[in-house]
Amino acid sequence: MNPKFQAPKGVSEYLPPRSNLFDYVSRTLTTPALAAGYELIELPIFEDTELFTRGVGESTDVVSKEMYTFEDRGGRSLTLRPEGTAGVMRAVIEHNLDRGQLPVKLFYRGPFFRAERPQAGRYRQFYQFGIEAIGVNDPYLDAEVIGIAYAGYKKLGFSNFSLHITSLGDAESRNRHREDLVKFIESLNLDDETKVRAAKNPLRLFDDKRDEVRSKMQSAPLLLDYLNQESMENFASVQAALKSINVPFEINPRMVRGLDYYTGTTFEFVHNGLGAQSGIGGGGRYDGLMETLGGQNLSGIGFGLGIDRVLLAMETEGCIPENIRYVDLFVIPLGVAAQSTAFTLVNQLRTAGFVVEQSFGDRALKGAMKAADKSGARFSIVIGDAEISSGTVELKEMSTGKASSVTLSALASELAKLS
Ligand code: HAM
Repeated sequence: MNPKFQAPKGVSEYLPPRSNLFDYVSRTLTTPALAAGYELIELPIFEDTELFTRGVGESTDVVSKEMYTFEDRGGRSLTLRPEGTAGVMRAVIEHNLDRGQLPVKLFYRGPFFRAERPQAGRYRQFYQFGIEAIGVNDPYLDAEVIGIAYAGYKKLGFSNFSLHITSLGDAESRNRHREDLVKFIESLNLDDETKVRAAKNPLRLFDDKRDEVRSKMQSAPLLLDYLNQESMENFASVQAALKSINVPFEINPRMVRGLDYYTGTTFEFVHNGLGAQSGIGGGGRYDGLMETLGGQNLSGIGFGLGIDRVLLAMETEGCIPENIRYVDLFVIPLGVAAQSTAFTLVNQLRTAGFVVEQSFGDRALKGAMKAADKSGARFSIVIGDAEISSGTVELKEMSTGKASSVTLSALASELAKLS
């Protein structure tokens, strides 16, 4: 079949049953953030375009090539959010969240948009779970943020991934490095486009995918070697804090994040079974972002985890838990009177906390049993006229076919006993 309408190219969609896994993944990634006191922030999907050009940086692919930008009916330039941090900072500044208790600790989940070339694990609409901790510069907070991402992955049960960390140091360290890096880059024979990119942000060249640029950059000066005493001590404290909570990491001095706002600690989680799109999450500290966007000069740190890629990682590792979609009971009414009895019974059981489905329509028993099977329910009951008059049903365990008589009034307590 060739349907008249199809989803736009390169977007990720989640339909049952895989959407159950998507829901499970995003909820599970969120639990460690909730345990650490982060609170939800729900933001617009589109923002003023300038928020991203200024915040994320014009040297980045995200801003220069990948934004979905449009003019609204009032002639304003708007952009579908390509990432979450700039929007969070805008909201924090606009609503004075940074004037209270610090750090401000926020989390978000939702779709993001980048006009990238679609491939496995790279989509034009994708989903992130992210957190931001704003207003305090403390190596323990860096380690808390990284630890929250790590705990989320571990909770999901996959293991074939590594954490890469580095430090971009403070402004003084970065300036000293930049001077030498620029001199080094000037000594290379590069095409004009690359020179323009390097002029905006010379670190970008570490990220170049072309072999000839990569080999030229092999001997480039590394920022990590330029950290001053304070930055070095800060980075050492972050590492010690990570070790103290058993978060394994590798130091990767060549790592460059794809967004320009980073300073200090930066990190990426890489899954080893995903091929080219192996980044399952990343983040770091951003000292100047808030000020760049018109706020006070406060530091922040956060991450964005790619929910789509985490899902792929779990599927690659085969660590998908059974019964993500758990149904306690499937209720099959037979006849008009039973429909009404079943409807109120199902409602009572749901109120009591059970997950209950019922069959609808004038279904014959066979078809309804099939639906019960498909639902994955642990138990089923059939209610007909005889059951209504006796007040008793046969509670059938779907996996074994074993049944036991239970009175309707004792059904909830019996289910509780069995679960
Ligand atoms: P990012 O590294 O650009 O960081 O994106 C974070 C994660 O989103 C990536 O590691 C990846 O898993 C996922 N991702 C990015 N682009 C795509 C795509 N086209 N398709 C599928 N997944 C994708 C940020 O966005 C920062 N805002 C993170 C951050 C928060 N830094 C500080 N605070």
